[in-house]
Amino acid sequence: MEMTLIGSLPFMASNYCVLVPGVLVPLTAGVAWALYRYHFRPSEAHRSVDVKTQQALRRYVLFESTHGKPDSVRQAFREYAIKDRIIKGLLFTAEQDLFLEEAAKQSYSTTMLVLGTQCGYSAIRLLQLLPSGGMLYAVEQEESMAESAEEMILVAGFKNNQFKLLCQHPVDAIHTLKSQFGVKKLDFVLVDYGCDQHVEGLLALTEVGILHPGTVILANNTDHPTSKDFLKYIEEGGGYRIVDSCQGLLGVDYVQSE
Ligand SMILES: *[C@@H]1O[C@H](CO)[C@@H](O)[C@H](O)[C@H]1NC(C)=O
Repeated sequence: MEMTLIGSLPFMASNYCVLVPGVLVPLTAGVAWALYRYHFRPSEAHRSVDVKTQQALRRYVLFESTHGKPDSVRQAFREYAIKDRIIKGLLFTAEQDLFLEEAAKQSYSTTMLVLGTQCGYSAIRLLQLLPSGGMLYAVEQEESMAESAEEMILVAGFKNNQFKLLCQHPVDAIHTLKSQFGVKKLDFVLVDYGCDQHVEGLLALTEVGILHPGTVILANNTDHPTSKDFLKYIEEGGGYRIVDSCQGLLGVDYVQSE
């Protein structure tokens, strides 16, 4: 007994030594890379919904909606939101829904981008307004959320020649739009992810050069204190004009870069 115990100790110890540098090195490099690439982001920026809640919503919509009917699918989302406060927070209010619709209709948008698709509710509404031949790019960086949003959009009856779901960080997705999908200009952009990163999103859009005079940008959560920098950027940047707002949802026209 004693022999076995003593004999196993050096083995465990050496294994541990090998394991620690093996794990720590890639971790440290990954963390440093993330910090370099996206600066520091507070964790609340990822308004993540636990997988159990996501799945419960998904099941509800699958069972209770008429498949292929976007209005029915959206209705099922709203019904579910009545009993679930977390899901309620993911849906725009009736007033914001209307504001979104008006903005999308007025711009007669053929190429749309949603940064922060979450459960897919607003993407479905925008797809209903998309003229034929148009395309909606929906970005959601959280994998399980992205998967269920894609499923909900398909259940609503939209086809993969009308939308693409990109499970990437919004800044990476913006670069993908140009490099992989050949997008030259966007008519409409809904920005609805961590509000402390809205500036970063706009900078990426201008850097890639896919905004054009008249591009409509709707940014959510702009009444939150962390949106201060974003508002300052919009007001002082020169390339943007604030048009209207509704309960923190701000409508901005891209005028042109300076
Ligand atoms: C919009 O911002 C609010 C906070 O002001 C947030 O609760 C909500 O999840 C965001 N997105 C939608 C689609 O409402």
